[in-house]
Amino acid sequence: MSDNHIFVIFGASGDLTKRKLVPALYSLYVQNLLPEKFAVLGVSRSEFSDMEFRSAMKLAIEEFKEVDNGDRVDEFIQKIYYTTIQFNDVSTYLTLKQSIENLRTKEGIGGNTIFYLSTPPSLYNIIPQHMAEVGLNQQDDGWKRLIIEKPFGYDLESALKLKDLLLINWAEEQIFRIDHYLGKETVQNLLVTRFSNGIFEPLWNRNYIHHVEITSAESIGVGKRGGYYDSSGALRDMVQNHLLQVAALTAMESPSSLEPVAIRNEILKVFQSLRPIKSEDVKTNTIRGQYMASTIKNEKVVGYRDEEGVDPESITETYAALKFYIDNWRWGGVPFYIRTGKRLPTRVTEVVIHFKPTPHFLFAKGEACSTCNQLVIRIQPDEGILLKFGMKTPGAGFDVQTVNMDFHYSDLSHQRIPSAYERLIYDAIKGDSTLFARSDEVVEAWKFLSPVIDAWKNDPSIPLHGYPAGTWGPETADELIEDKEMTWRYPCKNLLDDGIYCEL
Ligand code: BG6
Repeated sequence: MSDNHIFVIFGASGDLTKRKLVPALYSLYVQNLLPEKFAVLGVSRSEFSDMEFRSAMKLAIEEFKEVDNGDRVDEFIQKIYYTTIQFNDVSTYLTLKQSIENLRTKEGIGGNTIFYLSTPPSLYNIIPQHMAEVGLNQQDDGWKRLIIEKPFGYDLESALKLKDLLLINWAEEQIFRIDHYLGKETVQNLLVTRFSNGIFEPLWNRNYIHHVEITSAESIGVGKRGGYYDSSGALRDMVQNHLLQVAALTAMESPSSLEPVAIRNEILKVFQSLRPIKSEDVKTNTIRGQYMASTIKNEKVVGYRDEEGVDPESITETYAALKFYIDNWRWGGVPFYIRTGKRLPTRVTEVVIHFKPTPHFLFAKGEACSTCNQLVIRIQPDEGILLKFGMKTPGAGFDVQTVNMDFHYSDLSHQRIPSAYERLIYDAIKGDSTLFARSDEVVEAWKFLSPVIDAWKNDPSIPLHGYPAGTWGPETADELIEDKEMTWRYPCKNLLDDGIYCEL
């Protein structure tokens, strides 16, 4: 059982609280994973009474809950409280402190407290500082933990500033930087697949791997998040954090233990080994695109520039692809490709390990890679692992066709896959920081992307390609792939077959 504590959510009237945080806490509650004494305190600028906030959270849980373990919503919401704050006004933090103390006395909870920042990022350097000014960071009466949503900084400079500012009042062990991709079961399974099986790891290096491809495609557009997204773009929103973390777990060495420090040290080493992309190479090693209006399945879809909250002349990318190298013994010379985009044909996140062709093409002369082996680690949806390999087509001759060996997590039908937030909140409650980004990792990731961010901003000769919504992004993205006989994998809707022309 975890320690009794109060879970404070800043930005409690926001979407994340409603869709993810409170439903995740409810999931933990019905699985009896929360401590005996526990309370949630919602904090934001809006005025609500406890009762009003409880009613809103009840509706949110009913809409977004993931576990139906008996109806305990009414019981759970009794643990929820609310208080108002003006984020910029330090005096209101004293009121907050008083509310926390009152709650402690009422519920008989000691000093342990988690503060979850689910606010606009511009408040990240204000809230923790004001909290410290009234002593809310002090651990003499129990632990205090700070969970921070991404984005952690806007670029290298701001990330460094934020890191230094936080570390004035908070110890690194108190700070939990959320990257929800690390909370995904299948992302964690990368480690298990690699390090608990004797068959993959011997092949997991430059001797056998031709290249590594990581895709995170979304079919949705920016929806109501245009305001935020327009100042972010695909590179900051997905690559700097989620996809570089996935790349690191794919590429890292085996940690000496499962201790957080051991795993995070290995992740850091991957980031430190990323070969810097020189400004003059940004043009050839990266592609950016933006979705344009189109018709998908007879439905008209607006272009990015016509989305709510987006500048009609915006040059923010909704698609980003890049090629890079990891300069170490394991990966020397193996290209890594990452791409992500909104309004692509389907939703899929996958890591594809492309193995080298056989040294002698006995069966299919001249078609070096028509049957190259691929290991596809499907992060989502239909979580699983797919191995593609060549088999003899029955009949005369020696024709070879690619077949699939496919494992679906859903086959473990008795096991529910917990949501990323559920897993990460539970880890934070237990004080396990393994699946949270450490500040040095975050800084290295920004350092690596800085030349790309700068060149995309300042070099008008780097094109921003328009792509019709519902397509796989700019066609020229195939040119990034070094081996001219190859393209990106274009997974069909069933995620097993690939090819641009399959039904989507
Ligand atoms: C978020 C991004 O971090 O991740 C969103 O801000 C994106 O733009 C989302 O849609 C994708 O998460 P998931 O879990 O749906 O792949």
